[in-house]
Amino acid sequence: MEVREVGVVGLGTMGAGIAEVFARGGLSVTAVEADRDALARGMSILGSSLGRAVSRGKLTEDEHAQILGRVRPGSAMTSLSGADLVIEVVPEQLAVKRQVLAELDQVLRPTAIVATNTSSLSVTTIAAGSAYPGRVVGMHFFNPAPVMRLVEVVSTVLTEPAAGQAVTALARRLGKTPVQVTDRAGFVANALLLPYLNHAVRLLETGYATRDDIDLAVTAGIGLPMGPLALLDLIGLDTSLAVLQVLQREFGGTRYTPAPLLRRLADAGRTGRKSGSGFYDYPAQSPPAAGSPAGQRAEPPPPGTVTLIDPAAAGARTGAAEGAGPHSERAAELASLVAAAGISVTRNPVHPTDLVIVAVGPQGGVLGPATAAGRAADAVGLHVAAPGLAEIVPTPLTAMTLGCGYPRGPVRMLAEAGVERAAEVLAAMHAGYGDPAFAPPPLLTDYARGGLPPLGHEAS
Ligand code: CAA
Repeated sequence: MEVREVGVVGLGTMGAGIAEVFARGGLSVTAVEADRDALARGMSILGSSLGRAVSRGKLTEDEHAQILGRVRPGSAMTSLSGADLVIEVVPEQLAVKRQVLAELDQVLRPTAIVATNTSSLSVTTIAAGSAYPGRVVGMHFFNPAPVMRLVEVVSTVLTEPAAGQAVTALARRLGKTPVQVTDRAGFVANALLLPYLNHAVRLLETGYATRDDIDLAVTAGIGLPMGPLALLDLIGLDTSLAVLQVLQREFGGTRYTPAPLLRRLADAGRTGRKSGSGFYDYPAQSPPAAGSPAGQRAEPPPPGTVTLIDPAAAGARTGAAEGAGPHSERAAELASLVAAAGISVTRNPVHPTDLVIVAVGPQGGVLGPATAAGRAADAVGLHVAAPGLAEIVPTPLTAMTLGCGYPRGPVRMLAEAGVERAAEVLAAMHAGYGDPAFAPPPLLTDYARGGLPPLGHEAS
């Protein structure tokens, strides 16, 4: 069956983007929102996306007018009666989606196809509420829909093969790349993507790295187009939370447990770009470039002198003087990078210098060598992860962000219990119950190993 006339129900960010894709593909589109303001907002998202394409020289004014002319805004489901395919892009609530499908049952021809762009609900469950479940297919676009090429075509056990084939053919006609998937939580892309994004939130909330550095590590080090926190803002923190929750329900364990910070921000309505703030702020007129901080940070002046501690060299463990033992390849490389920047490097840990660097590998481990060299209080680890990316690894004593957002109570309690004891108890519970949630965090183990007082104890 050839699809010529389509309907889009729900004109949020994704709905407006999908309507744009259809209209650009030459289809006649009816865009429905029950609420007049939401309809106006959706049409304005569509208009500005096309306007941006004109200003970038990707579309002519004529093409812009033609594409916009193919989109007919409407507020009643009856305006969809002539459609060959209708896609619902309403909020991710089963009752709302089922209500839309029930209304479509009343107005569409029995041969019409009903697609759902759900990212977190079961297509089967949505379809089962329809009088014609065989014509319901998942058609999952990615944000921003006009740009991302992938469309996941989700067939359920109820889907008639012809409906799945028609949606696949349509996706191809629109210049997209369809992949066939069955109805499994997260389908393919989200099942892979969301645990990674969630992990980034955990890194942020446990103070291992700052927001900007987490995103920079991914864009500059791994080469992805956006950092994970910027991407969460693009997807929507509420949507991301919903996907994680469904993954957790379906597969259990702790892998998909949403990071508390993600949940808190979503609960607070800081859902990302669409609300004006998430991990980043998005001023109405000038959103920051993807994956980049809103403003420039003032850089402190570079150090003039650096002490380099090489964890692999015996000298570092014994605190021996400069020149004892050869540098490992990693430390030698770092020493020449520092020297090339015009900074004087010494290996003698007793020399007073502006900065103490431990040349760590990807596995970290700053505190041991720094403590052995007697410089635990002012050493930072440096790991050159890729030609353009240096990972800075603070020790607990130099991690200025540690404890941010956490109440002081538990830290004080930790000081009273003693870090070694706390790490031992956690390790015993982990061994006894096998639950990863009891595994002592590396930071605690570092404190215990270094025989250091916890931060709260120090600060008080
Ligand atoms: N709407 C329409 N077009 C947009 C757009 C938007 N919101 N944002 C960017 N574009 C277009 C630009 O107009 C530009 O088009 P041209 O090349 O034709 O001029 C192109 O995209 C590149 O944009 P920019 O130069 O402004 O910015 P960029 O090069 O940094 O790219 C990006 C922006 C395309 C968003 C890129 O950063 C990217 O690909 N990010 C990854 C996005 C991603 O992973 N999406 C999937 C999320 S998962 C999901 O959506 C599924 C789910 O269910 C949760």
